[in-house]
Amino acid sequence: MRLDRDHARALDAADPLRPWRDRFALPQDGEGRELVYLCGHSLGAQPRLAADYVEEVMRDWRTLGVDGHFSARHAWTSYHERLAPALARLVGAATSEVVAMNSLTVNLHLMLVSFYRPAGARTALMIEKHAFPSDRYAAESQVRFHGLDPARDLIELAPRPGESTLRTEDVVATIEREGPRIATILLPGVQYLTGQRLDVPAITAAGRRAGCTVGWDLAHAVGNVPLSLHDAGADFAVWCHYKFLNGGPGAPGGAFVHARHARRGDLPRFEGWWGNRPATRFQMQPQFEPQPGADGWQISTPSILALAPILASLEYFSTVGLSTLRARSVALTGYLESLIAARLGSRVTLLTPRDAEQRGAALSLRLECPRDAARSAFDGLAGRGIVADWREPGVIRAAPVPFYNGYEDAWRFVDALAAELGAS
Ligand SMILES: Cc1ncc(COP(=O)(O)O)c(C=O)c1O
Repeated sequence: MRLDRDHARALDAADPLRPWRDRFALPQDGEGRELVYLCGHSLGAQPRLAADYVEEVMRDWRTLGVDGHFSARHAWTSYHERLAPALARLVGAATSEVVAMNSLTVNLHLMLVSFYRPAGARTALMIEKHAFPSDRYAAESQVRFHGLDPARDLIELAPRPGESTLRTEDVVATIEREGPRIATILLPGVQYLTGQRLDVPAITAAGRRAGCTVGWDLAHAVGNVPLSLHDAGADFAVWCHYKFLNGGPGAPGGAFVHARHARRGDLPRFEGWWGNRPATRFQMQPQFEPQPGADGWQISTPSILALAPILASLEYFSTVGLSTLRARSVALTGYLESLIAARLGSRVTLLTPRDAEQRGAALSLRLECPRDAARSAFDGLAGRGIVADWREPGVIRAAPVPFYNGYEDAWRFVDALAAELGAS
């Protein structure tokens, strides 16, 4: 492989998706120079269309006032429904199985209220040992909410000693072994620290065979890797829209509820009027009539201003298609991995699986030097115009996002890191 910058530029020039970069506003330094923005796994870049969609809501609010709920061109009472078809395609679901609402951890609690129902010997909630802290807090507090003890009823899946990622066969074996006492399994579609993509269909099938409900945190998976939640048979999933879906800081989250639960009246849920059937919502009746499907899990009036940027981003996704983006992503991340191997060698360890099927866009690197030296190398990247991120205990994550990053971005990241590590 050629390691020079001109080659990276030539790859960009030949790339048919390259023009999409111009539809995003990329962060700049103090002198107005574009930064190398490799942080879409944390906060996606701004789609230029987002400002138009936000302005449309502002204008409708200005000119229509309260009537905007019903008579805006994109009426606010049904605004969230406009997001569902594109979201459903991204997660592999029917439109009625998905909804944009609240935020990820709130949605996780709402899903666990309905789908984590400890009973008899089946009381445990299974998560991964290195779960994102918010998922752990949610899971532990749900266990305690049922009067149970996390020390006994929170089962943690860990990689084998000396390994950084989970093996599907180990996950399945644990489910088979512990199955009779597991009520619910909650795992990430893509693990936040290592970038490992889990085998959603295989693990969901194992969980369901064992009689458990199975839910997924797709924060790092949605808009990044292909998903097929309906066919996999997952009971529920939750995600955020501010990472690969470019919905902006604190954008509302998303949830999936499998169609087999769409009309179940026996499931407990925390109710609010926005989950009521739209046809009777404004009749102000005392009795809750849930909208069948994921919409029935809504509670409150959504923030239309906050949904608008997500809608803009989803239009981009619908135009290009996830499979086209994914193909570019595999190529870009593969290029980044090869450059890292060639230029940084044993100075770094890649925590992310090398198999493209088992990862998304992001790579996670551990620098093989004392923590303080690693941290100062990371801090040095900023001075070289690179935006990546640092996660304790000492992991650098960088994601070339196929919508707006290119080969030269990957090249500049590796070149800057090589300079910081004295490898150039
Ligand atoms: C894997 C994962 N789960 C949960 C969360 C929490 O999301 P929120 O703050 O939207 O609830 C995050 C946030 O980055 C995350 O990466």
